[in-house]
Amino acid sequence: MPSPSQLHTPKRTSPLYTPTDATVIFVLGGPGAGKGTQCAKLVSEYGFKHLSAGDLLREEQDRPGSEFGEMIKTYIKEGTIVPMEVTIQLLENAMSMAIEKEKKKMFLIDGFPRKLDQATTFEATVVPSLFTLFLHCPEDILLQRLLNRGKTSGRADDNADSITKRFRTFIETSMPVVDYYEKNGKVERVQATGTVDEVFATIKERLKERGVEVPKLTFITPSS
Ligand code: ADP
Ligand code: C5P
Ligand code: MG
Repeated sequence: MPSPSQLHTPKRTSPLYTPTDATVIFVLGGPGAGKGTQCAKLVSEYGFKHLSAGDLLREEQDRPGSEFGEMIKTYIKEGTIVPMEVTIQLLENAMSMAIEKEKKKMFLIDGFPRKLDQATTFEATVVPSLFTLFLHCPEDILLQRLLNRGKTSGRADDNADSITKRFRTFIETSMPVVDYYEKNGKVERVQATGTVDEVFATIKERLKERGVEVPKLTFITPSS
């Protein structure tokens, strides 16, 4: 992770990658909507690289010597949005690694962009997105799921107090991102209240409509 001074180097005037280098689908939804759960299923069927902004922030928070650790911890506990420079740099680093080392081209970026400035800056300096998958779920169900997850997740924000704050941030700060993309016809809204498999079946249909198909297996037959 670069130092804060490096994070503030002059912005690129064009994106680092083209949509041909990297196809990016943003996955949004309230806390507990099932973003991580559905991304895991998409990874195993489609071979996407899954990058969760929250996971990357938690990793950076716990990295010995990180100069952002304490700051990230406070934002996560309070359910507020970490300054975009940090999150975008973490995502860019992880994408570059996956492109170079794993030869990945298809990305699910989960829990990002959570704020309009993250959306516009990421698309202008890293890569434009293909579309946003939005998992829609009412708050009472989100609350049940998060409290249940909190029994085993060990997360500092899966408690009633942080959850209330995260819901507020979601409505006030993150929903405007969904509205912005929706106005541009770039959102696939999926009802996320069904079972995991039901939600996944709907997601697969929507991906197909957007031209994203399960890759065909190629069998290599030994030459005689
Ligand atoms: P997010 O990444 O959006 O915060 P998760 O994928 O971590 O959400 O899911 C939150 C919790 O809800 C987890 O405990 C998960 O097992 C559970 N969960 C996810 N999808 C469903 C679903 N469709 N029905 C019931 N529980 C679900
Ligand atoms: O997506 P997840 O629930 O794992 O995010 C946990 C927390 O990480 C958020 O509540 C927020 O504090 C922080 N976060 C952020 N910016 C993002 C994604 C997550 O600040 N794009
Ligand atoms: Mg998650």
